[in-house]
Amino acid sequence: MDLPVDLDKRLEETADRITVALDTLIPRVQGPEARLMSAMRYAALGGGKRLRPFLVLETGRLFGVDERCLLRVAAALECIHTYSLIHDDLPCMDDDDMRRGRPTVHIAYDEATAILAGDALLTIAFEILADPQTHADPNIRIALVARLAEASGARGMVGGQMMDMIAEELGDDIAAVTRMQRLKTGMLITYAVEVGALMGRASDEARHALSAYAHDLGLAFQITDDILDAEGSEDEVGKAVGKDEGRGKATFVSLLGLEGAKQRVSLLADQARAHLSMFGARAHYLNLIIDTIIQRRA
Ligand code: IPE
Ligand code: IPE
Ligand code: MG
Ligand code: MG
Ligand code: MG
Repeated sequence: MDLPVDLDKRLEETADRITVALDTLIPRVQGPEARLMSAMRYAALGGGKRLRPFLVLETGRLFGVDERCLLRVAAALECIHTYSLIHDDLPCMDDDDMRRGRPTVHIAYDEATAILAGDALLTIAFEILADPQTHADPNIRIALVARLAEASGARGMVGGQMMDMIAEELGDDIAAVTRMQRLKTGMLITYAVEVGALMGRASDEARHALSAYAHDLGLAFQITDDILDAEGSEDEVGKAVGKDEGRGKATFVSLLGLEGAKQRVSLLADQARAHLSMFGARAHYLNLIIDTIIQRRA
């Protein structure tokens, strides 16, 4: 095992490596369609915490997976995440002007370009996964593609976004809000945590433990996002705040109140930690990231 370094340093290292990988994988800005590549690059290379890539790398390392392969999967997942943010910010969805401390893609470019840049980031993710450089075994590549399609599609992120669009109608149905959060955010986080185990042919026991960890972490992550929307500052979080309440969206904050939502996050964090016990010290960073996720201000 590597010598333990500070978590922040480890996160920064991952963020830098993923940005380099994305820079290599996303097409250069050229040709009559240059505006598209420029917008893709603006969105994908311009910051972000890179939490999902971090989870891909750390879980993959638990099972000794080749880092070059992990980086490609992490980059593919970050492309999907970035696409989801571009579309989430569109006027027809959340209508947001700021993201990661900068104008959103439809503001910096225009709406049509934002839709197309999202589309192209979505499709390039599958191109990256299908490439033999991602994994020598075609069966594993197919599984990586199929799982990502599932996690990001109608029964995953996109389905959750649909529920979010009608979230005022969910009222105080906590089961429905939990399912919405699980789909819109949780599924991609689960993917991030499970691919390392998939590529490293981990035991069923290890997979179950990791998927339970991802389940609790994903929910804690989205509830924290909702808490930041309620009490964060735009300067810190890099995007507009106070939107959920303004739009009458059902979230854990609207259902449980701020204190109740915070208690739920801390309960989920304890559960997530408990699921890692079988990995002992090897899960050092997966353990530390729980606190970073729930204590973040951005
Ligand atoms: C924001 O995700 C959208 C949600 C799923 C809540 P992140 O908070 O991971 O956004 P970036 O990538 O760091 O900007
Ligand atoms: C977005 O949730 C989730 C996805 C993009 C899938 P939010 O709408 O709460 O995310 P922010 O607050 O705009 O980042
Ligand atoms: Mg949204
Ligand atoms: Mg939004
Ligand atoms: Mg939000």
